[in-house]
Amino acid sequence: MKKTLLLLMLLHCIHNLQAEDGYELWLRYKPVENKALLTAYRQAITAVQVSGNSATTVVIKKELALGLNALLQTTIPFVSTPTGNTLIAERGLSENLKDLGTEGFIIRSKTINGKKCTIITANTDIGVLYGVFHFLRLLQTRQSVQSLDIVSTPQTKLRLLNHWDNLNRYVERGYAGISIWNWHTLPDYIDTRYIDYARYNASVGINGTVLNNVNANAEILTPVYLQKVAALATIFRPYGIKVYLSARFSAPMEIGHLKTADPLNDTVQQWWHAKAKEIYALIPDFGGFLVKANSEGQPGPQTYNRNHADGANMMADALAPYGGIVIWRAFVYDAKASDRFKQAYDEFTPLDGKFKTNVLVQVKNGPIDFQPREPFSPLLEAMPHTPLMLEFQLTQEYLGQGTHLVYEAPLFKEILEADNGMVENVVKGIAAVANTGNERNWTAHPFGQANWYALGRLEWDHSLSSSQIADEWIRQTFSNEPKVVNSIKEIMLSSREAIVNYMTPLGLHHIMGNGHHYGPAPWGYNTGRADWNPVYYHKADTAGIGFDRTGLLQYKPSVQQSYAGNEQYLLWFHHVSWLHKMHSGRNLWEELCYKYYAGVDTVKAMQQKWNQLEGSVDEERFRQVKMLLAIQVKEAIWWRNACLLYFQTFSRQPLPANYEQPDHTLEYYKQLNFPYAPGN
Ligand code: GCU
Repeated sequence: MKKTLLLLMLLHCIHNLQAEDGYELWLRYKPVENKALLTAYRQAITAVQVSGNSATTVVIKKELALGLNALLQTTIPFVSTPTGNTLIAERGLSENLKDLGTEGFIIRSKTINGKKCTIITANTDIGVLYGVFHFLRLLQTRQSVQSLDIVSTPQTKLRLLNHWDNLNRYVERGYAGISIWNWHTLPDYIDTRYIDYARYNASVGINGTVLNNVNANAEILTPVYLQKVAALATIFRPYGIKVYLSARFSAPMEIGHLKTADPLNDTVQQWWHAKAKEIYALIPDFGGFLVKANSEGQPGPQTYNRNHADGANMMADALAPYGGIVIWRAFVYDAKASDRFKQAYDEFTPLDGKFKTNVLVQVKNGPIDFQPREPFSPLLEAMPHTPLMLEFQLTQEYLGQGTHLVYEAPLFKEILEADNGMVENVVKGIAAVANTGNERNWTAHPFGQANWYALGRLEWDHSLSSSQIADEWIRQTFSNEPKVVNSIKEIMLSSREAIVNYMTPLGLHHIMGNGHHYGPAPWGYNTGRADWNPVYYHKADTAGIGFDRTGLLQYKPSVQQSYAGNEQYLLWFHHVSWLHKMHSGRNLWEELCYKYYAGVDTVKAMQQKWNQLEGSVDEERFRQVKMLLAIQVKEAIWWRNACLLYFQTFSRQPLPANYEQPDHTLEYYKQLNFPYAPGN
């Protein structure tokens, strides 16, 4: 081979694998490498026509210029009339718009006046923007754009992120730095991150964001902060993203200096009405309030012997004239409840049908709290007369926090598809606790980005599979090389089951360290509240292990039956003898050991697969993930050893001799403590 050719090839390689800091997420728009495909793309798009001059149209033009020019490595001219092979992005062009609603879009290859065109059209500019992002995704994932006929509408209307960001920029359960909202310099200083945040969200169809923590500070509702919120709303608006705020129920007392926050008190009601008026004067399309009330010490209507509906309806009345909504969280539990599993259901089902039409009740995916695997929350099927939002958690509070690679799409799908898809059919919106921070790559762990991406894609279209979404994400985020795509996909698709196995197999739950929730602590018994203690959840004794919820009637019989027959949930619902025979033929103790070891083995396999990608993904992200996987292997072993050694004190059976034996004692694991663990 000639020297110059070799050099050129080398340079090409280096160029492709330039270190990347991850900031651009999945909108990297890397040049199309395959010559034939590049030629086909260049032939298909020789010009672009975007008419209109709304703020969203400006955004559309910018994104198309950015994406097309970078992908196709040429300057595609913008024209006012089609010149042949033109990409036309314009609203109201097609005859088939009636079923598209306000956000759906059509992408269709068509011949107009003898010229081959690709039309992206919708009823609204926002719909066109979604179509444009979809088209760019086709190019980024190297699909053919020759003869397109795509009609797409979102399956859920409300597709939200919930930021648990405090006004001092501390992010509760945040593992990716401090808040991206710099409240101190807003409204005058507009960080480009705000614009990119909007782009990334719009590119996957997310259409709303709650800016502040559910453990809310009333200060966010003061005039000074509302100006700052309005500045963000102005940036997000062209991208179809509405802002919402977490509202503290006692705000009328804290910032309004009233003596009460009783929802039936006239002055309190007037205060909220005036507040709504003030907000809408600044932000005409303000989304509404998210409220955590009478939960974990937060104020709420029960303080005044009123119920959740009284509280929610009062706030909903204030927002109704402006089209705003109240999203009222159902995450409630208190020390007096006999079983935390049941409490949300018990408190909310009597209120079904009692909420105003602009109230939605937001229910966490499981009855406890974002565990690696939970049965779906029974409340999701028990409120037929109340619009519901489903809440997931992107930030990995219980899923290895900032250092474990866990692809959450299989978890999201498991819930959406629960009870033969009943769950996805009842929810009107989906929200997820964000995993963003000011780390350069937004989510700290490069694979945290995949969860953000998967959330948006699934909110839009529940029928996408975890594998399809992973495929899209990898191609846009890392590479279109089949070897890379396949290896990373295998890693991602095995990661969720791995964490279930090395943390909480067979239906174990809530056995992590107290407060910070970092690391295993199944022995925890003394937090001062029974339902914060791991021993309350696993109930291990010499007879067996698991929470006996046999009499639990919150699910309909068919669901109860399906959970009863499913060993993945065994210890969620039953206290089971150590010698109980499992489907595998092993007894429960042996099966528990088997699962914990399998979890660790899977992470080791993930690590091995990743290490083989050296040179095939850019150096910087390769090294980051490599280091993080090493931590994950270490911590998976820690979880396995600590849990098995502890449960062994009850099972009184040996760890099978063919397994690697723990290198520390139970006492060693028990004395570890982490006063500065993040996010707490
Ligand atoms: C969990 C989490 C808290 C959070 C709460 C909530 O309990 O640990 O930090 O405030 O959920 O969802 O409100």
